Amino acid sequence: MKNIQDQSDLNEKKVLLRLDLNVPLENSKITDTTRIDKILPTINLLLKNNAKIIILSHVGRPKGRVVNELSLKPICEDLKSKINTNIKLITKNLKEINSKDLFGHSDEKVVMLENLRFYAEEEKNNNEFAKHLASLADIYVNDAFSCSHRDHASISKIAKFLPSYSGLQLSLEVKALNKITLEIKRPITCIIGGSKISTKINIIKNLIPKFDNIIIVGGMANNILKYKGYPIGKSIIEENCDQIIEKIFYLSKKESCKIIYPEDITVGKDLNSSPKIKELNNVSEDELILDIGPKTIKTINNIIEGSSSVLWNGPAGYFENPDFAKGSFEIAKKIVEKNKAKTIYSVVGGGDTVALLYNIGVVNNFNFVSTAGGAFLEYLEGKELPGIKALN
Ligand code: 3PG
Repeated sequence: MKNIQDQSDLNEKKVLLRLDLNVPLENSKITDTTRIDKILPTINLLLKNNAKIIILSHVGRPKGRVVNELSLKPICEDLKSKINTNIKLITKNLKEINSKDLFGHSDEKVVMLENLRFYAEEEKNNNEFAKHLASLADIYVNDAFSCSHRDHASISKIAKFLPSYSGLQLSLEVKALNKITLEIKRPITCIIGGSKISTKINIIKNLIPKFDNIIIVGGMANNILKYKGYPIGKSIIEENCDQIIEKIFYLSKKESCKIIYPEDITVGKDLNSSPKIKELNNVSEDELILDIGPKTIKTINNIIEGSSSVLWNGPAGYFENPDFAKGSFEIAKKIVEKNKAKTIYSVVGGGDTVALLYNIGVVNNFNFVSTAGGAFLEYLEGKELPGIKALN
């Protein structure tokens, strides 16, 4: 994998820079800028070397349609102020633009193309779409480790058409995760939560042989509870997962990996209602499971206490509402306590989890913080990520 640092001649070169600017947005306001802050060194390096930057990114999952709430505009504004350089947001149909639409004046240095996922071709890894994007530039840089598990046009196919390099943040994440997987000490506990059930549930079975404990919380735990015959009311769920769950429990026995899931939960009638702690069999039809309960927190904390390493990806509940953040907060508190005592090696990944740790001011008490969620888990699984393969 060639790093952009090793490219000596960037002067006036047009660089397609794939970033993961998929940051949490609430009414078009960014609630956590970690992913933006982490890629600043790559942009600054390109600017210092007098390159012309064409930023590519997605935000959210608009599924091939233009969704105004998922415009990159607020992200463009934030980045502009951070690099102290103007950035022109190109909103014209990406399939029709040509290089003349990008840099009008010679002093224009950075442009950003509107959300790539407004075009179905992006997620279909479409050859023509990738080729067209590639025609706009001289070289391609991927600094989006957190998207590199996606076989998408701007991540993998595009590298076929241009000399391709990794950005500084991508290289840093790959190096750190390599080191972690080689040097990690047992017992290892992996905590998996969050709402992207479809991305993560298939990964769990492949992680079982590598870990001693897998703690399943957040949206994914709803699928386990339903499988076990408990009511889950209106909670989020992924359909057709019973076979995967059966496999997870079968493999966990075979490989002596303990699977931990909620013993009690915190529910609400909607995302803003007041929290109620409930036993598993007591969830009503009009309630949502929005956090774990106190018994579960106690069990999880005991497991963390007995672990030498912990990898955490995805919050335990709907932490955006502080009433449902207690599970995630207590897990963070326990890891931080052990980290300060130097009795645990802790790694955290995923946009939401990192945002949560920033919110409560403990992000610096983890040994390694990855910007990646799904990509982080797939890397731990030992998979070759399409985005990394393309750079190799
Ligand atoms: C992420 O947030 O993990 C990346 O931006 C990838 O997003 P996706 O899961 O929607 O592909």
